Amino acid sequence: MRLQGRVAIITGGASGIGQETVRRFAREGAKTVIADLMMEKASELAEHLRFQGHEAIAIRTDVTSLDEARTLARFAMDAYGQIDILANIAGGSAGPVIRTKHSLFADSTRERWDEMIGLNLYGALNCTRAVINHMIQRHSGAVVNVASTAGMIGMQKAAVYSAAKGGVIAFTKALAKEVGEYGINVNCVSPGIVGSARVRQMREDMVQQWLEGIPLGRLATPEEVADVIVFLSSDEASYVTGENVTVAGGLVLGPKGY
Ligand SMILES: NC(=O)c1ccc[n+]([C@@H]2O[C@H](COP(=O)([O-])OP(=O)(O)OC[C@H]3O[C@@H](n4cnc5c(N)ncnc54)[C@H](O)[C@@H]3O)[C@@H](O)[C@H]2O)c1
Repeated sequence: MRLQGRVAIITGGASGIGQETVRRFAREGAKTVIADLMMEKASELAEHLRFQGHEAIAIRTDVTSLDEARTLARFAMDAYGQIDILANIAGGSAGPVIRTKHSLFADSTRERWDEMIGLNLYGALNCTRAVINHMIQRHSGAVVNVASTAGMIGMQKAAVYSAAKGGVIAFTKALAKEVGEYGINVNCVSPGIVGSARVRQMREDMVQQWLEGIPLGRLATPEEVADVIVFLSSDEASYVTGENVTVAGGLVLGPKGY
């Protein structure tokens, strides 16, 4: 088992990529702390994992709040005495928590910018700030941020989301430089398009258009993204830091036929 005895905080762990990451972390022997706004789903998952013999706990956390991020870190410390891994996964461009849908920047509002940047950039900053001094003191730790290909090549009708995720990638690199001397690895995963329930509900012609730009010709599964997060959290990636690993089936390679 690659994460035996490690304590891992996973934000956004109740659903999608986060949920799969929690399951994989548990399978690799980690003690998981599931932090999410959806407390019922987070608790159910923790209970299910405990039933299977894993150590798992859940706490309702709004990652947009630094105070709540600090409460999360204390909760993990009280329960398990240390924090080895932070996976900043909570985020998104649309969906149940983010109220509005994808729209043109020309129609955007300041309120919407705050919401997007609050969740997708401040969320990662808050949770990392809450744990980083502990990791520095222990001279050990791994931070894995989930950004997006939107933050690399830009996503239409999601300009502010793209800006926030681009910020996450830059934050990853800068922090990796600052904390490398303390044995802390900081990396980033940029998924392309994951075939979540939300994506499956989208218009077929829209999904078809996306598929044409993906050399592998299909969407990702949450498991495929979670596998890379596990790798970057493990000793197998001990000499990897400041990287942005794209998990996008080749989406960022440019037009086919070139
Ligand atoms: N799904 C994709 O196609 C895709 C593509 C690129 C990047 N991503 C990124 O991957 C990450 C996970 O995406 P997903 O598709 O699994 O999303 P998801 O909506 O399935 O899960 C996101 C989770 O984050 C939680 N969350 C939302 N706001 C929160 C907050 N303020 N505090 C704490 N938890 C909060 C939600 O309750 C949910 O459980 C996000 O950062 C997203 O931007 C997703």
